[in-house]
Amino acid sequence: MDPKKRIETLRKEIEEYNYDYYLLDKSSISDFEFDKLLEELIFLENKHPEFFDPTSPSQRVGGAITKEFNTEVHEYPMLSLSNTYSEEDLINFDNRLKKLTNDPIEYVCELKYDGVSISLIYENGILIKALTRGNGTEGDDVINNVKTINSIPIKLRGNYPEKITIRGEIFFHIKDFHRLNKARQSDGFETFSNPRNTASGTIRLQDSSIVANRKLDCFLYSLLGEGLPYATHYESILAAKDWGLKTSSHMFLAQNIDSVVDYVNSWNEKRKDLPYEIDGIVIKVNNLKQQEEMGFTSKFPRWAISYKFQADQVETKLLSISYQVGRTGAITPVANLNPVNLAGTIVKRASLHNADQISKLDIRVNDLVYVEKGGEIIPKIVGVNKTNRDESSQPHSFIINCPECDFTLVRKEGEAQHYCLNQYFCPPQIKGRIEHFISRKAMDVDGLGPETIDLLFLNDLIKNIDDLYRLKKEDLLPLEGLAEKSVNNILNSLEKSKGKSFECVLFSLGIRFVGETVAKKLVKEFNSIDNLINANDEELQNTDEIGIKITESLKEYFSNDQNLEIIKNLQLSGLNFQLDKSDEKKSSVLENMKIVVSGVFEHFTRDEIKKTIEQHSGKIVSSISKNTSLIVGGNNIGPSKLKKAKILNIKIITENELINLLDEETV
Ligand code: IVH
Repeated sequence: MDPKKRIETLRKEIEEYNYDYYLLDKSSISDFEFDKLLEELIFLENKHPEFFDPTSPSQRVGGAITKEFNTEVHEYPMLSLSNTYSEEDLINFDNRLKKLTNDPIEYVCELKYDGVSISLIYENGILIKALTRGNGTEGDDVINNVKTINSIPIKLRGNYPEKITIRGEIFFHIKDFHRLNKARQSDGFETFSNPRNTASGTIRLQDSSIVANRKLDCFLYSLLGEGLPYATHYESILAAKDWGLKTSSHMFLAQNIDSVVDYVNSWNEKRKDLPYEIDGIVIKVNNLKQQEEMGFTSKFPRWAISYKFQADQVETKLLSISYQVGRTGAITPVANLNPVNLAGTIVKRASLHNADQISKLDIRVNDLVYVEKGGEIIPKIVGVNKTNRDESSQPHSFIINCPECDFTLVRKEGEAQHYCLNQYFCPPQIKGRIEHFISRKAMDVDGLGPETIDLLFLNDLIKNIDDLYRLKKEDLLPLEGLAEKSVNNILNSLEKSKGKSFECVLFSLGIRFVGETVAKKLVKEFNSIDNLINANDEELQNTDEIGIKITESLKEYFSNDQNLEIIKNLQLSGLNFQLDKSDEKKSSVLENMKIVVSGVFEHFTRDEIKKTIEQHSGKIVSSISKNTSLIVGGNNIGPSKLKKAKILNIKIITENELINLLDEETV
């Protein structure tokens, strides 16, 4: 089939499935089939860069890196809303407005999503800008990141006006936020404290593929434009829905303020059942003419107000502080509370995060503490009731030794967390590393739950991950609770795991800060474990997304003889420590050439260009020198690089020229 036609068909089909899934909540194709279509599209688009289209659904997987966001002026300023906390305030709001109009006022009530606001600009149905709020007058264009949000159309459907601005809120579903934090914890990163701030940080990340992985969502709540044909806000939102924009089904038309009050009260409890967080209700005058008459104060629209829910808070006694040891040795203090009912759930424990948090609040055992379930999902202690504090009470001293192995704890400069460095003898660290190694996203070994790992550990059969591949049937069969079928399952699954790719093995090792994405980047850059072990700081830090923290962690890991021994044993057991065959060299066209890749590219990510160069035997270098053979340049190459290239007379070619060069030589 004509590739152009096939690309067009795939783009249409994929966007349609996407719309069904994210807007209509309807699954019309299996995930597997969907991924196959998307893979085919990406393959064809890479092969035919001449058909590049910034509105293609392939943009949703991310990959574009934005080093610096463009700041743009908002055509309509992004204002905030005045807050109210009581029924009385709502009645006052209605009374104020009644003085400004003679006609009856109808209100629209909407949920107040707790995320980060975004202004989407569509021209001729195509998303051309996505601006953050910024200072309200100007914001940053984060369009590459916004395109990865599946519920935001890159192209509108149906009968849309030529130019519109649509505002909404980008947020996390609670389950996706938990998933993200779980992954971070397992990679040794500090967890994020709440979905709102995380959404706000995520939308400003430079690497859009990380944004794509985090799975943000967005509700649209306001439409702006010149000469739009709508008389009411409600109508305009329904129109936006027809164009494929995601609006909330909880929007409600209220004929008077009493009805608004009922709606607000009904959500005080119901909000806890939503799959995402809201922090209030927004009430807007429905009639757009009335809105215009009422106008704005210097800060807020007069025609809208936000009703904020009170955070649920209770007082209870802090019985003790205990400490958990994670697989990376991080120590987390936990408050054990006198069980108390907070917003319908019994709370017994709350995280205290770290030593600073304890001293900041001066929390002491036996204190009465205030526990809140506000924006955060895990209840937190927000303060201490010091009025009846026992006079003999003493500030809490953070532990000095590991609660599990008694090793002296350390706190590195600039880090909030204390660590136990006894990684090879501290039981929760050993077990945690093994649990991580066999987990689904890592080596995916079946039949080994935490209890079985405990059992193997207690019976001295495993002390580290490499011991797993030395397990024999006769070692396992005598253990209580392990029938022959389970033993076979474990051993078969371990055998199967030997087929996992190098990037998966690298991730499974559990090196601090080396999560799935970092492992992928390292494998792309260094190809084999030997290259990675021998890489110097500069080479490591010249890799995309690898900074000082990860470099130090890798250096620390590889400087430990025990770790090198584990790697050697795993290699002897047949695990993959080399890039897959399919990624190996394709030609020698670029042999002996030292190539600098710089700038932002249209058709490929920088990683893809680097990989292609390496596949054709070229060597990637980071800085331009007299030894540089060639520069592959995209948009925004820095002026100093351009100047240097000119002085040294080094040729700069585009991504298309590179592909043509390789095509010609290899055909
Ligand atoms: S309307 C003129 N509607 O709340 C302001 N805002 O304090 C128009 N928000 O920055 C805003 N849900 O980020 C509106 N249904 C909703 C909202 C909503 C959340 C956020 C928005 C805004 C802030 C207002």
